[in-house]
Amino acid sequence: MEYREIAPIMGRLWSPLAAVTSAWQGKINAQIAVAITAASIVPDRPRVLVQIYKGNYSHRLICGSQAFGLNFLCRHQLHFIRDFGLVSGVDREKLEEVDYSLGETGVPILAGCMGFLECRLVNAMDGGDMTCFLADVVAGFASPDLAPVTWREARSLIPKEWNEAWNEKISGEVEISRSRMSDIDYTAWTPQAVNPGAEGD
Ligand SMILES: Cc1cc2nc3c(=O)[nH]c(=O)nc-3n(C[C@H](O)[C@H](O)[C@H](O)COP(=O)(O)O)c2cc1C
Repeated sequence: MEYREIAPIMGRLWSPLAAVTSAWQGKINAQIAVAITAASIVPDRPRVLVQIYKGNYSHRLICGSQAFGLNFLCRHQLHFIRDFGLVSGVDREKLEEVDYSLGETGVPILAGCMGFLECRLVNAMDGGDMTCFLADVVAGFASPDLAPVTWREARSLIPKEWNEAWNEKISGEVEISRSRMSDIDYTAWTPQAVNPGAEGD
C-alpha cells in the first residue's frame, strides 16, 4: 500500500489545533497537539484520548501530574503554533508572556481560546514513540461564538518561515518515531508505574 492511497482520509483524522497545558512540581508548559479525540458516549462522564510524544517536555509533566488541559485555538492565536509547537519548554518558560489562569488540577487555562477541557488521567497505552492518554474531563467550557481552527487551515495562514521550521522539525521526528514505534512496553499502566523522569532528560 502507498500512503498516498489513504492520505485523504488519514489527514482528516487530526483534531482542531489545541495547546496542551501541563503543570508539575512548580513547572508549567504548553505544546501543540492535533491527536485528540472524544472517548466517551456518556454525557455526564466525558472522556478524551490524547497522544503525546515521549520526547516532549509535556510528556514528563503529564506523567508526573496525571493531568493536562486542552485549549482549543482560534484564528487570532496562531502565534501559539510557533511559540508552543516549534520549540520545547525543557529549557524555556513558554508561558512567561501569556495570559492564563489555573484550573483545579493546576494546569494553565489560556485566555481567549475557543474552548477548554481540563483532564485527569484514567489510563495510558504505550505506543513506543508516544503515549496514548485516556482522561476524564473534569471541567471545561466552549464558546458558541468562536470557531476552532485546523492545522490544514492554519498552514495557509501562518508565515512561510513557520511552515519551513515545521517541515524541518517533523522530518527529524518522523525518523525518531520510526526507530521507536515498535519498542512497546505491554505492561499494564498504573498511576504509580509512571516514571516522569524517564524521557527527555
Ligand atoms: C500542528 C502541530 C501539531 C502537533 N501535534 C502533536 C500531537 O498531536 N502530539 C504531540 O505530542 N506533539 C504534537 N506536536 C509537536 C509538539 O507540539 C512539539 O514537539 C512541541 O515542541 C513539544 O513541546 P514540549 O517539549 O515543550 O512539550 C504538534 C506540533 C504542531 C506544530
